[in-house]
Amino acid sequence: MTEHTLNGVALPDEQGFFGEYGGQFIPPHLKQAMDDINQAYEEIRQQPTFQQELQELFTHYVGRPSPIFHAKRLSEQLGGAQIFLKREDLNHTGAHKINHCLGEALLAKYMKKSKVIAETGAGQHGVALATACALVGIPCEIHMGQVDIEKEHPNVVKMKILGATLVPVTRGTATLKDAVDNAFEEYLKDPTNFIYAIGSVVGPHPFPKMVRDFQSIVGKEIKQQFQERFHQLPDYVVACVGGGSNAIGAFTAFLADDSVKLVGVEPAGMGLETDKHAATMTKGKPGQIHGMACYVLEDDKGEPLPVHSIASGLDYPGVGPEHSYLKDLGRVRYESATDQECLDAFMRLSRIEGIIPALESSHAVAWAIREAPRMSKDARIVVNLSGRGDKDADYVANKLGL
Ligand SMILES: Cc1ncc(COP(=O)(O)O)c(C=O)c1O
Repeated sequence: MTEHTLNGVALPDEQGFFGEYGGQFIPPHLKQAMDDINQAYEEIRQQPTFQQELQELFTHYVGRPSPIFHAKRLSEQLGGAQIFLKREDLNHTGAHKINHCLGEALLAKYMKKSKVIAETGAGQHGVALATACALVGIPCEIHMGQVDIEKEHPNVVKMKILGATLVPVTRGTATLKDAVDNAFEEYLKDPTNFIYAIGSVVGPHPFPKMVRDFQSIVGKEIKQQFQERFHQLPDYVVACVGGGSNAIGAFTAFLADDSVKLVGVEPAGMGLETDKHAATMTKGKPGQIHGMACYVLEDDKGEPLPVHSIASGLDYPGVGPEHSYLKDLGRVRYESATDQECLDAFMRLSRIEGIIPALESSHAVAWAIREAPRMSKDARIVVNLSGRGDKDADYVANKLGL
């Protein structure tokens, strides 16, 4: 399996740092549990049988490689760059999350864990993990904020059908950050027998590395698909950023290709000038959250701020450490799209291409809609369409009075 380096520097280093970000800011007994996970992961990823099992599941279970679709009508209407969609929405369970959930569930089986615990925001990670655990045969417990439970009803039902135990979280703002806090507390009760299967490239080492490795298939495929079809690399690769797993998955294969511009799109919510957004890198500063050092939206006392996004999977006050490093390095540009731009993009893509995107992915689509008209017609933008919008259909219909 590929070792990841940039400019000769290992990403992450042995201690799990990406520059000054990442690491393990956790109590000593949890550090042992994380080191055990890291060791097991390093063992398993070298095993040809593990890689083969994962590849076979990617092909025959998930449906990889996911296609790249040229959104011709949208591109023509915008009159600028050509927009291509990497169709992670077509994966089994409807989003990119299944890529790392299969890896995490196989690791749990290898480590003979008795229960897999996780948080979920939009429910996509929860559904993907419940699916992977059903496949592998391990009990699965998902913690989800009450606000998100009400918003993402179809995913809640699916998790239950798949046999997962759903734990509603009512503390705090009853959204993603609170779900992570709750799930971590449950995990801490027995880190020897339980395993935390985090839903993004966040948390203490080794999670940002492990989830990145499982997701990096997305960028590898984009590269190969572009080389086969155009004998060229794309000009832009664009992805929405919550914790950052779909974005890092799409970006990793291109980090050393300077001609490819990489753009992460954060949720600007009701506006960057308000306190109702979750644009961690645009408005936050280096700090710590959930066992890692990264950009954080926090108050003067260092407490995470309440955040907001129309997309449940993006309203998180932290962000992956590798993204924090890539921002400081200037290798990835982090921009944002508002709730309104996201809704407009959701409707526009649905009506002009017949593809209903997830509200999370709609942020990346919104960026392309805003920027493509300023580019030449032969520029090519790949948008990572991280998930499908079935889960959001009722919410959007109510909001728009459809
Ligand atoms: C479809 C989809 N895209 C993106 C995200 C955001 O997560 P990440 O930034 O880790 O890709 C989520 C999270 O739930 C999601 O469901």
